[in-house]
Amino acid sequence: MTRVAVVGATGAVGRTMLSLLRERSFPADEIVLFASSRSAGTEIDGRTVRRLDETAELDGFDIALFSAGAGASREWAPRFVDGGAVVIDNSSAFRRDPSVPLVVSEVNPHALQHHRGLIANPNCSTMQLMVALAPIHRAAGIERLVVATYQSVSGSGRKAIAELEAQAHASLNGIEMPAPEVYPDHIAFNVIGAAGSFAEGDDHTDEERKMMFETRKILEDESIGIAVTCVRVPVRIGHSEAVNVQTRDPLTADQARELLANAPGVILGHVPSPLAAEGRDEVFVGRIRRDESHPRALGMWVVSDNLRKGAATNAVQIAELLVADRARLAVA
Ligand SMILES: NC(=O)c1ccc[n+]([C@@H]2O[C@H](COP(=O)([O-])OP(=O)(O)OC[C@H]3O[C@@H](n4cnc5c(N)ncnc54)[C@H](OP(=O)(O)O)[C@@H]3O)[C@@H](O)[C@H]2O)c1
Repeated sequence: MTRVAVVGATGAVGRTMLSLLRERSFPADEIVLFASSRSAGTEIDGRTVRRLDETAELDGFDIALFSAGAGASREWAPRFVDGGAVVIDNSSAFRRDPSVPLVVSEVNPHALQHHRGLIANPNCSTMQLMVALAPIHRAAGIERLVVATYQSVSGSGRKAIAELEAQAHASLNGIEMPAPEVYPDHIAFNVIGAAGSFAEGDDHTDEERKMMFETRKILEDESIGIAVTCVRVPVRIGHSEAVNVQTRDPLTADQARELLANAPGVILGHVPSPLAAEGRDEVFVGRIRRDESHPRALGMWVVSDNLRKGAATNAVQIAELLVADRARLAVA
């Protein structure tokens, strides 16, 4: 009997997780949905959303898929673990904890061996980058990365999607755009040159810091140099990334193409777009070319659906690995 909890079930990621569990025929005997008091009682796919509070019954789950924000994860994930579940968490709450594996299913599933009940899913923009870069790192070693992201609004949750739609609708109808609430500036017909927020005294955003830290943890190499600019663009779903990768050993563009053509979870294209990647579970890589300014650097363009591979798909893939090898459900 496998019991699964989905925490944050009404959110952009939570709803995608529910679709994926169904699409992939995940072997769950029971799926229980949780959210805050705001949407408790809502029906999704014939299931009533339960309120996550002190009265909730949290014992006896095998797996808890969390996408309810870092605060809720910090408060409630340990309670599910105490009740016997392995928690796969989409938030940033535990990613930096050295005892918590940070796992991309195609890249470092070996890290699952040592979990203590908590497994972290990487940030969406890091996730797709790792699927595209791990094969290159294994073959030639990555010395330095220069990345610019073009992140969609769904990466900030359902309120941000509504904000883009409301501003775009107003603008197209000649009405004054509503004031921004999720972002510091209007996002419709605009570009925001800093995705994420700035911690006191830091000139990089938290999104940029996540990519730096998480890349080194997942690739298990603290020596990788990373320069990153995270940008928010008026796209509903799908993050894009312009990547310059400098390797330690020489690697031609043809060799990189061959590596990626055979890499799990990657589809090679000419110029992939977020619209074409929407609803897909793979990471799309295109524009692989020699950087003519450096003998060991290549340029590439990496696109993926942030709600799927960037969050829900990877979480469900980790859950599938755990269920396939039930020994992995046991805490190390
Ligand atoms: N969006 C992405 O592409 C993406 C990618 C990777 C990781 N993540 C992470 O995944 C998490 C969710 O993101 P999202 O985009 O799905 O956000 P979202 O659309 O705003 O949804 C948030 C969900 O969390 C629930 N929630 C909020 N506070 C809660 C609480 N105290 N107790 C129980 N449930 C609570 C909400 O329930 P109510 O309906 O009751 O408000 C809703 O179901 C975040 O940590 C985010 O950083 C997101």
